[in-house]
Amino acid sequence: MRVYLNGEFLDRSEATIPVDDRGFLFGDGIYEVVRATGGRLGAPELHWWRLARGLAGIEIRPPAGLTDRALSELAGRLVNENGLGQGDALVYLQITRGAAVRTHHFPPDSVAPTVYAAASAFQPPDAMRARGASVITLPDIRWARCDLKTVNLLPNVLGKQRAVAAGADEAIFVRDGVVTEGASTNVFAVFGDEVRTYPTTNYILPGVTRHVVLEVAAALGVTVHETPVLADELLTADELFLTSTTTDVMPVVAVDGRPVGSGRPGPLAARLFTALRARLVHDATDGAADGGDYEAPRIAAGSRPTRSHQAT
Ligand code: PDD
Repeated sequence: MRVYLNGEFLDRSEATIPVDDRGFLFGDGIYEVVRATGGRLGAPELHWWRLARGLAGIEIRPPAGLTDRALSELAGRLVNENGLGQGDALVYLQITRGAAVRTHHFPPDSVAPTVYAAASAFQPPDAMRARGASVITLPDIRWARCDLKTVNLLPNVLGKQRAVAAGADEAIFVRDGVVTEGASTNVFAVFGDEVRTYPTTNYILPGVTRHVVLEVAAALGVTVHETPVLADELLTADELFLTSTTTDVMPVVAVDGRPVGSGRPGPLAARLFTALRARLVHDATDGAADGGDYEAPRIAAGSRPTRSHQAT
């Protein structure tokens, strides 16, 4: 397998990172996971927008030359050189603050960030989509900058493990009685004609899939309110679904062992899944393209996830 490390494409067995890399020591870095379908990247401009925002958010200066175009070229080359141009693949990209003598504070400016990227084959979870996912709820013990896609994923890792140990597929986090998001997904709920998802504040990751689902829902005439869902409301929802680069739109049929709605995957999740895939594949760009015309999501700063929280 060919991977990218600090400006070079090399065999994975030759790609090594110093033990004092700050990603390893402190989780001091930002990552992205981008989907490629048939060799074309899904919504790369949104992923690169979020990457740049995350790097700025933790004050890592992006390496010179790593423009959106260069990132798309790099990702496209990894997909193609690894024979992943057919079917689905994932590109993982991580940028850390680099390797330096261990100090909590930042190393000198002369320390270059570490940039690593790799592509791997991906099998979409279609069997899970057909049966519907089950989730558990857990307290959201994460910090107050969940909008930054940092490699500090311990609460997410522990949450997902709790879900797996309980025979479930995902953990969804609850902060002050409000559903924020899943361990690696955003959460939507349908109550009759009303569809709701948590607003883009510092308490959730601004999911690329969430953003595109909002667009395709609007195009279908379905209004999604960026208004929180209470944990107490989950079992009264007609439908629940999750979104992410690796799940697309995933219907949820059980919460904490209790059925949601009919207990079967719901119709809106199925419609939005079809529309999302059509949009991502139709609008997908290859490694050399500049990207489409997506508008970057807005993030409200500093909002508390109170029960009365309104969309911003
Ligand atoms: N996770 N929320 C969290 C906490 C996530 O980690 C992710 C994605 C999402 C969905 O974002 P997107 O639609 O941009 O994939 C929401 C990726 C897939 C991961 O960590 O592997």
